[in-house]
Amino acid sequence: MLATHTKDRERMRIHHLTRRHARSGLLAGLLAAASVLAVGVTVAQPGTAEAAASLKSLADAKGRDIGFALDPNRLSEGPYKQIADAEFNLVVAENAMKWDATEPNPNQFTFGQGDAVVNYAASGGKKVYGHTLVWHNQMPNWTANLSGPDLLAAMKNHIAKVAGHFKGKIFAWDVVNEAFADGGSGGRRDSILQQRIGNSWIEEAFRAARAADPGAKLCINDYSTDGINAKSTAIYNLVRDFKARGVPIDCVGFQAHLIIGQVPGDMQANLQRFADLGVDVRVTELDIRMSTPANATKLATQAADYKKVVNICLAVARCGGVTVWGITDKYSWIPGVFPGEGAALIWDENYAPKPAYQAVADALGSGPTPVPTTPVPTTPVPTTPVPTTPTPTGNCTVTYVPNSWGNGFTAEIRIRNDGPNAINSWSFGFYFPAGQQVTNAWNATVTQSGTQVNARNMSYNGALSVGGTVSFGFQGTHTGSNPSPTSFTFNGSVCRNG
Ligand code: G3I
Repeated sequence: MLATHTKDRERMRIHHLTRRHARSGLLAGLLAAASVLAVGVTVAQPGTAEAAASLKSLADAKGRDIGFALDPNRLSEGPYKQIADAEFNLVVAENAMKWDATEPNPNQFTFGQGDAVVNYAASGGKKVYGHTLVWHNQMPNWTANLSGPDLLAAMKNHIAKVAGHFKGKIFAWDVVNEAFADGGSGGRRDSILQQRIGNSWIEEAFRAARAADPGAKLCINDYSTDGINAKSTAIYNLVRDFKARGVPIDCVGFQAHLIIGQVPGDMQANLQRFADLGVDVRVTELDIRMSTPANATKLATQAADYKKVVNICLAVARCGGVTVWGITDKYSWIPGVFPGEGAALIWDENYAPKPAYQAVADALGSGPTPVPTTPVPTTPVPTTPVPTTPTPTGNCTVTYVPNSWGNGFTAEIRIRNDGPNAINSWSFGFYFPAGQQVTNAWNATVTQSGTQVNARNMSYNGALSVGGTVSFGFQGTHTGSNPSPTSFTFNGSVCRNG
């Protein structure tokens, strides 16, 4: 059985690699280098909108996140790191930031693995999504016998120390994970947090997280909430209640641990109803499992399902992006928990891309790439004088898209080189009108002096052809109003606002 499975997989791997490289004329030497060639190669196909280099470049162009769950110990494995480097613009720690990993003994914190995740992300200009501050699972043993008041104090201390440690480096946190019961009850999960602290434990966690890192978006995350059902409605009601009472909450994560052929038909409507409450949404832990061994039919269904999920996110304006729960089927959590099931990710055990990879690329690459309009700023009283707006030269066009909440915000900036020449490096500048402060950035090195901000290219995105575009972004804080800068310079030229 195992031998047949392995042989089938090998046949499929060779089939996919061969098809792709037959297209690009690189057949010679293919098999010997298969695992390396699986990374960052051309994914263009007839009918796809873009001759893309990677999921990352496609997602960047759409202004959405394509993330993966990282185990930093796997980065020493060549193909793992190559895919991680090339294909994703967002990283989440699969286990490294959980309570048992960060506070194995009371008030003794170990951030080595979590720091490794953050440092890896920073080295490649990727955003970091924090997972997770409070979860009934993977709580350290020492919490098991705490009384209600002691458990609440321990939870608040944990949040303060962990969110405090990573402050400014993580743009959003799963503050609370999987707090609701399975089945149709629509009630809370019967965890020790719920039993000993009572209903207030969730809002206590969100308030503590806001206090520890006011610049981070605060999310609640769960599984089997992808469609409209009793569990997702319970979270919907919680978000509505928090919004009404001023309890801080900014976003909802939909894990989407799915089974092939079972993407909920009302998933888009579900995400949209949350967005309509005024929170961001995202698909946080996508994998789509099947009974193993895989075969071509199951893989085709899986590919269609991946495409559906990505398209659903793209159709919801407040959906920040999609994160897959791992890179390769070699290291998925599924076979250990669901024996006889697996093959749920988009690269197989040998790091060959499965049909689902192409499906994700097709979804990310299709349709118009929105050119966001710059929101009209409210008129703030600047804390320092802002220079008068100079006249654009026509050498560059800029779109600046802020997304604000509480006292935090992110901004995505897209620059087009409209000048007469290709360039090899760039420097980009502007002034904040209301004293905003950058806390961390991706895809650029950003420095700030007073209200003046300067961004320089990373090693991998300095080259821009005539008409070429580059995107970068940052996270920041503001004091209540967040008007957009009005004038931008790019290699000394004043840009048009797109
Ligand atoms: O690190 C130890 C290692 O020292 C030990 O030798 C080994 C023996 O079993 O265990 C290792 O820890 C494992 C850990 O993963 C790291 O590999 C744990 O046993 C194992 O339980 C843990 O599983 C993780 C699981 O969460 C915990 O429930 C999975 O990797 C991780 O993918 C999974 O992720 C969760 C999300 O956080 C929340 N949503 C569901 C998702 C899937 O279950």
